[in-house]
Amino acid sequence: MALLIKNGTIVTAESISHKDILIEEDKISRIESNIFIDGIEMIDAEGKYVIPGGVDVHTHLDMPLGNIVSRDDFETGTRAAAFGGTTTIIDYATQSRGMRMQEALEIWHRKAAGKACIDYGFHMIVTELRNSFDEDLKEMIREGVTSFKLFMAYPGSLMVDDETILQALKISGKHGGLICLHAEDGNDIDMRVKLALASGNISPKYHALTRPPSTEAIAVRRAIALAAKANAPLYIVHVSSSDALKEIEQGKRKNLPVLGETCPQYLFLSIDDIDKPNFEGAKYVFTPPVREHDHQDVLWKGLISNTLDVVATDHCPFNFIGDKEIGRENFAKIPNGGPGIENRLHLLFEGGVNEKRISLNRWVDLVSTRPAKIFGLFPRKGTIAVGSDADIVIWDPTKDHRISASTHHMRVDYNMYEGTKIMGDVTIVLSRGKIIVQEGKWRGSLKHGNFLTRDLFGFQINHS
Ligand code: URP
Ligand code: ZN
Ligand code: ZN
Repeated sequence: MALLIKNGTIVTAESISHKDILIEEDKISRIESNIFIDGIEMIDAEGKYVIPGGVDVHTHLDMPLGNIVSRDDFETGTRAAAFGGTTTIIDYATQSRGMRMQEALEIWHRKAAGKACIDYGFHMIVTELRNSFDEDLKEMIREGVTSFKLFMAYPGSLMVDDETILQALKISGKHGGLICLHAEDGNDIDMRVKLALASGNISPKYHALTRPPSTEAIAVRRAIALAAKANAPLYIVHVSSSDALKEIEQGKRKNLPVLGETCPQYLFLSIDDIDKPNFEGAKYVFTPPVREHDHQDVLWKGLISNTLDVVATDHCPFNFIGDKEIGRENFAKIPNGGPGIENRLHLLFEGGVNEKRISLNRWVDLVSTRPAKIFGLFPRKGTIAVGSDADIVIWDPTKDHRISASTHHMRVDYNMYEGTKIMGDVTIVLSRGKIIVQEGKWRGSLKHGNFLTRDLFGFQINHS
């Protein structure tokens, strides 16, 4: 199987060039000016950007939450991702209490195998450190699961204490893993939630009001101090506030081993959304919550200055009808999570490149290259280079796109960015050399997606 991409503008995190790309089997085999080969399939990318497929390192597909499950499974979720230009995901498997990580990994393998339409890896959510943690973690790493998430929020279910985080950092660091942290002060938040409910404050906006930025910033500060003590790398997921960002900035200034991720919802949505009438605000209930408008600009600056390293989605879709409604009489019962796996590249292109906040190279870096590097997938994923997997998106910067639940491919009954207009759109998506999306049509297949064993953490954290 061979395929030639001609006349396009190749954009990587480092460069922009006008070359042709030859794909043989599932890899990029040549990148040169004027490649001519008779009789092979050709894509004419004249006037288009040719970029590495997006790498979304924060998704929750087929994730159980109480009595419900996140609406996208590995089939619908990965297909929607592909329509939005993402060709690799790393999903969060969960080791529930009383379970070994190996058992959780098997469960997630069963969820994904035969369904995933694009390549995927797993992180492991750790809810307790069993006596066998050291051994279990080494086994995970041998299996290609090299990052582990712990929660400082959700007491009684997911939250672990600081001693546990410190131990996890030390052990993970010793074996070359990466700890990802959900940084919110769970005990403080719990107290605020109880007080709000006792005062009859039950509407969705109290989800945000009971989790003020200080509860995030304090947790981030504690987490960075623990990482410094353990001398182990730390990745703060879904950074939502300027307060938390400031803590990361200070950590980076001190050359501490900390990395930061934000998500489009914190760059585009605000407290105005969660305050929408008729319970509509429930569509925007996720944690950490939406913030006041002025945080958005500070987060964008964090992306420009390298204080933030990655934009991922935290895709965790629940329907408005039936799911979010569980919390009509109590905001604390609204399932936490929002959809977005399909919209990340578009939103970052519009808010970043079109609004002239970031360069084309930085766009590619944030949505593809840097996540691939941090999570042990580079250079197989995250770039356009000879020998890399041919995961490629042909992007038309002149094509209009309007985000809507009526046209999106995520299996959820609303879109958080309904009506948002984007100048720029995906035209063709290749996953390992195979066209899976073409002009809005699905050409992929189930079972195409492969599980990715990931390398140890080896990203050079350079804070200068
Ligand atoms: O509300 C969210 N973010 N749900 C998904 C789980 C998490 O904390 O990432
Ligand atoms: Zn989280
Ligand atoms: Zn998440």
